[in-house]
Amino acid sequence: MPVETPAGETFRFDVLTIFPELLDSSLKEGIIRRAQEAGQIAIACHNLRNYALDKHAMTDDRPFGGGEGMVMKPEPLAAAVQAVQAMAPQPGRVILLSPQGRPYTQAVAEELAGQARLLLVCGRYEGVDERFTAQYVDEEISIGDYILTGGELAAMILIDSITRLRPGVLGCADSASCDTFSRGGLKYPQYTRPRLFEGVPAPEVLFSGDHAAVAEWRLVAAVERTFAKRPDLVAGMSFSPNELKILQRQGLLARLRESGWKSQLPENQ
Ligand SMILES: C[S@@+](CC[C@H](N)C(=O)[O-])C[C@H]1O[C@@H](n2cnc3c(N)ncnc32)[C@H](O)[C@@H]1O
Repeated sequence: MPVETPAGETFRFDVLTIFPELLDSSLKEGIIRRAQEAGQIAIACHNLRNYALDKHAMTDDRPFGGGEGMVMKPEPLAAAVQAVQAMAPQPGRVILLSPQGRPYTQAVAEELAGQARLLLVCGRYEGVDERFTAQYVDEEISIGDYILTGGELAAMILIDSITRLRPGVLGCADSASCDTFSRGGLKYPQYTRPRLFEGVPAPEVLFSGDHAAVAEWRLVAAVERTFAKRPDLVAGMSFSPNELKILQRQGLLARLRESGWKSQLPENQ
């Protein structure tokens, strides 16, 4: 769902990374670029090497106790967080991108979109010194159970998914509210021109001009495809009272209940 916040407030992302140029091109295109131009979001990338203490701008060192790879040193990370926090009046929530963090979902994106400012710390190598995490990080977030070479792609994913939830960023106010995951399940199938593609027609109801019939078809199709593609999501789906009436008429309520879906209706309905 798009987030309710005072109109005109700019959401600020600060990205702390040793490779700021990795993010540059993706931040200059499409909706993210337009949201920056419109003042809906601001993104600042900070090079962690600028906060290194030695003349070689070292941000990593060998792990104590031996072992593979390098570990990001705590002092440049701590100095960067302190300096970057002071760059805007409102302190931001410090998020470390980490495969050990809270799994990132649309619900987490919605929660974070309700903040005003985020500092996204990108790890590299074998990760960051644990003392930095303990003392400076508010939360670790993982974008999935796999290992990336660095946190920059993960930071981009947070920026992208949070930005499109901010008020006014998407052209149509409703486009985020009917996306996959917004009601807990998947979005209905979509079609565009041509009406007939390789002998396969788009569903006839979509040309009927009957908005109620289209909405009903989409609701049923969304539920059917959630059953087919992501049955694990069915139990968490939510519906308006009117949608529940439609699902009941279409014979889908019983199937939903059998799948562990928590009914919002009394048992006898
Ligand atoms: C190679 S990984 C370090 C993995 C670490 N040695 C471990 O086993 O937990 C380097 C950096 O990439 C980022 N990263 C890797 N996988 C990630 C994931 N699934 N979600 C978010 N960030 C990730 C983190 O910032 C991490 O510090």
